[in-house]
Order: sequence, then C-alpha cells, then structure tokens
Amino acid sequence: MANWTPQSWRDHEGIQMPTYSDQALLNATEEKLGSYPPLVFAGEARSLKADLADVAAGKAFLLQGGDCAESFAEFHPNNIRDTFRVILQMAVVLTYASKQPTVKLGRMAGQFAKPRSSDVESMNGVDLPSYRGDIINDIAFDKVSREPDPERMVKAYSQSAATLNLLRAFSQGGYANLKQVHGWTLEFMGRSPWAKKFSEMADKIGEALEFMEACGINPDTVPQLKATQFYTSHEALLLPYEQALTRQDSITDRWYDTSAHFLWIGDRTRFEGSAHVEFLRGIDNPIGMKCGPSLEPDALIRLLDTLNPNREEGRMTLITRYGHDKIEAGLPKLVRAVKAEGHPVTWSCDPMHGNVIKSDSGYKTRPFDRILAEVRGFFAVHRAEGTIAGGIHCEMTGQNVTECTGGAVAVTDESLADRYHTHCDPRLNAAQSIELAFLLAEMLNREISERNILAA
Ligand code: PEP
Ligand code: CO
Repeated sequence: MANWTPQSWRDHEGIQMPTYSDQALLNATEEKLGSYPPLVFAGEARSLKADLADVAAGKAFLLQGGDCAESFAEFHPNNIRDTFRVILQMAVVLTYASKQPTVKLGRMAGQFAKPRSSDVESMNGVDLPSYRGDIINDIAFDKVSREPDPERMVKAYSQSAATLNLLRAFSQGGYANLKQVHGWTLEFMGRSPWAKKFSEMADKIGEALEFMEACGINPDTVPQLKATQFYTSHEALLLPYEQALTRQDSITDRWYDTSAHFLWIGDRTRFEGSAHVEFLRGIDNPIGMKCGPSLEPDALIRLLDTLNPNREEGRMTLITRYGHDKIEAGLPKLVRAVKAEGHPVTWSCDPMHGNVIKSDSGYKTRPFDRILAEVRGFFAVHRAEGTIAGGIHCEMTGQNVTECTGGAVAVTDESLADRYHTHCDPRLNAAQSIELAFLLAEMLNREISERNILAA
C-alpha cells in the first residue's frame, strides 16, 4: 500500500474524534495499548474476507448485529450471552430459508465510539460536550464526566477482550449447538402471541433437524453442529485506539487492525481525503463503508478505488442506510455505478439509521414497519438491478428493551419509557429481532428461488 503507515491518518482531516487535554497521558496510553496482545488473529480476518466474497457471489447471507453502543454499565455476561443467542436464532431461521450459510458478525467486543450530530449537548440552559461513547467520555451530564479520558481506551480494550473470550467460548464450547438454538426459538415462540404466524417454518426447521438426527447426523458425529464461526466488528472511529491495535502480520507482512475482524467507516467520516478513509485503506481486514443519501456515485467509485485498488473480493462491504422512503429512489444509482465499474462489493442493508424519529413521548425511536419497509426496498432494488442483496446490519439486543416501536408484540409510544436503556440509538429487542428474521427469511426464500429459476 503506497505511502501508508499506521499513523498516516494523522496528516488528514480527522473529524468526530475527541481532543484530549492531557497529551502526555494520551501518548502513554497509546504506547501501553500498543504493547497489549492483539484481540483477533489475521488469519481469522482473512477467513471472514473469504466468507464475505461468498456473500457477494450470492452463496451466503450476512447477518451483522449488536448494540448501537456497548457500554461499561451494561457489561454483563448475561447481556453478551443473550445478544449472541438471538443472533444465532436469527441465523438458523435465515439459513433454513435461504439454504445457504449465514455469516455471523457481531457489533460487539469493541463497538464503543460514537459519531454525533452536534459537538455540544444542551440541557436546562447548560452546554456540555456531547457524549461520544464510553471509550471516550461518560454519558452523565456533568462537566467532569464529559471530559475525554484516554484511559477509557484501556478499559474498552479489557472489556472487548473479555467479551470476545466469552463469545469464543460460546461459539466453540457447545453452547451454539444447532438443536439447542432451535429449541430456544420454539420456547420463545411458545410465549409469544404472534407465534402462529411463523410456526410453520419453525416446525419445518424442527423436522429437518429430526430427519438429520435419524440419519445419524448429530453433534457427536458432525462436530460442526455444536460449533459456529462468529466474527466481531465495530466502527473504526477512534483512530488512536485503532492505530495502537494495528499490527504487521508475520505470515504475510500485511497490516491488520487486530481490534476486530471487520471495521467500518461511518456515514459522517467517509468523505474523500478523511483521516478515516486514509487509515482504513491500509489495513488488510475486510472493511465496510456506510452509504447514506448524500453519497454520489462518482465519489463512491473514487472511494472504492482508494479503499480497494486491487479489487479484491470480500474486501469491501457497502452498508446502505437511506431510510424507508428514500432507498428506492437513491440506491439504484450507486448500484449501477458500482456494477458498471466492475468493483466487487458485498451489499448490505442497514435499515436502522435512516429511520430514526422522535416519538410523541420525546424518545428517539424507530418504527418496526419502517425498518421492514427499508429491507423490502433493498431487496426490490437489487432484484431490479440484477445484483445480490447480500446481508443486513441491525442494532439489536437480546434484552427485552422498549426502544423501537411496533412489532407483533407491539411496543407503543407510551411504553417506550418502560425499558429504554440504550446508550445511543434505539435497538430492536429480542422478540422484534426474531420476528425480523422470520420476515426476512420469507423474502430471502422468494429471492433465492427466483434466482435459481433464472439460472436454470
Ligand atoms: C452506527 O452504525 O451506529 C452509525 C452511527 O451509523 P451511520 O454512520 O450510518 O450513521
Ligand atoms: Co447507531
């Protein structure tokens, strides 16, 4: 990679990052983090890249999900377990419907830094710096809490390491047993008034598992049934942290950001010449870029030329986030430009960030119907353009929160106050996430049958 070093981003325009007042402490913290072990291994990032190339080719589906912002306060094994479990449940439903592997990518074990629309937050006539995520400052609304503190990076690293360790144990240690995961879904549906709607598909999954078992295919004979591959990702926003975890792989001599398998650039920091684009162009991980309504096709192509000059398959995932009412008008021009250029990309749909509204009760929320409508729009555009609708990117949790409205077990405007816990954007709760997976499965099933008919 020409003219790139792990710190070359420092000569570019870096926005959405804090100014630390104690420079000496910042330097010492970066040095300390630089001496800590990597969180992921380069070979794992390479295998995710190969999996994402399969997604782009229509041979697998991508499911990326987790918190908008992880927090120090919500750090608890049960929270990690429950989100992991719901992602697995969603993946089983999607795999069954699509007859394809689901690539599972958590917004977990490092998703701490947040871009904000304003540098200041005002409350009762007091102005303070905005909260930027627990890796930077504290959400409490007072002067001391809002001061950016470099040492929070060390705490975020430790929490990420512990989270990743538990995720690895769950993935490989038997917790991810396919039959058990499906059992949870049945148990869950048994408690839900909307279960009937999806019971047919759930029964079919159960029958398929029984049939396999009758054929002698069980976790003892086929160990893959009790283990799964689970990858981690976050927005590469706080570049001093990302740089400190960037290491040269001894096998290939290439640079990897070892803070996660997959890193993405947010919609606010993906402009040409930005520090974030500069940093991400030099790391060899698979990377993502959020694409919102302000991104023009010409700029997108130039960004792809910068971020993936060798046009490597699986390298680039474009995560579109238009809003339910903008996607069908806005997305086709990007899809056409990328197709005409022949850039290999994996298309994924973030139906969350373009669909935020303020509820009458004053909470930031997202109506379930709009989330679903954006996913439908995403499939419709890719079907019309002859491209692959590869995946979905959700903000969700395994907890029974009330942050997004709607869903079959409807969260109403009035009930948002009951369990509104997010440190940033509203997340789908466990029921809404599983319902979304069933609805998505129906779409995917139709999509893939049509693709197969066309190919025959
Ligand atoms: C996010 O994914 O939490 C986020 C801030 O998204 P975007 O960059 O698309 O606004
Ligand atoms: Co968010």
